[in-house]
Amino acid sequence: MDQLAGKVAMITGAASGIGQKTAQLMANKGATVVLTDIRDVEGEKSAAAIGSAASYISLDVTQEEAWKGTIDTVMEAHGHLDILVNNAGIPGAGIKLEDMEMDTWRQCIAICLDGVFLGIKYGIRAMKQGSGGSIINISSIAGKIGIPTSGNYCAAKGGVKLLTKTAALECANTDPVVRVNSVHPGFIETDLLAGAIQHRGPWFRQYIEDTVPMAKLGETADIAEGIVYLASDAAKFVTGSELVIDGGFLAR
Ligand code: NAI
Repeated sequence: MDQLAGKVAMITGAASGIGQKTAQLMANKGATVVLTDIRDVEGEKSAAAIGSAASYISLDVTQEEAWKGTIDTVMEAHGHLDILVNNAGIPGAGIKLEDMEMDTWRQCIAICLDGVFLGIKYGIRAMKQGSGGSIINISSIAGKIGIPTSGNYCAAKGGVKLLTKTAALECANTDPVVRVNSVHPGFIETDLLAGAIQHRGPWFRQYIEDTVPMAKLGETADIAEGIVYLASDAAKFVTGSELVIDGGFLAR
């Protein structure tokens, strides 16, 4: 219950899915949680469902000024920031690279990669004002392998993997230390995956069930548990690592 007691956590893209579940689990473990998203109605609702340990701030992760303002608000309200989960994301295009428009490319890179860079930048600055912290960047299995028609997503998620390692090295031996790790979910039952299945067609769900060694989709709790571990002091010697949670998909 008290694994995260006394810690302040901020989670981007927390209105639904993995971010929402992570916020809930972190609050259950004793953290004060700040949920952020661009879908304000859903975000407020998610925070209210968690209760008094949770609050909501509107944040578009692609906007640098908004990051500055949000981190300032968190620091004013709580005095410190110990955990940041860079989770906001959108699915891949479902379009081959030869047919992909520049706008489609840029939108995914802006949210899934630029957004993580900005989170790392302002997260580290805030954590260094306190006693350090843990940044967890949500990459994907798509950050470790190529996936046809998801070139924009794979490029962004692969970028997140190495951005994570760079940040980890820059902060591994500073005073205070900020640990930075990436999480690589496989196929997880969320709105994002539902959108991808809808876009590609029902065959895609069948493909997932046929190719994942555990023969099923993961649950948001499977990912949230891994994120909580990396956020906690149990992971105090873990930095620059990649936590794959994918039902065995990448083991094939
Ligand atoms: P989701 O769609 O439930 O959550 C993503 C959230 O990001 C949404 O609430 C959305 O409003 C928010 N968002 C989108 N653009 C934003 C922006 N510019 N600023 C702030 N928030 C923004 O989807 P899910 O599945 O929970 O995704 C969470 C993360 O997990 C994403 O980074 C995704 O790429 C990653 N992931 C998901 C997998 C899956 O199978 N569901 C697999 C691998 C990675």
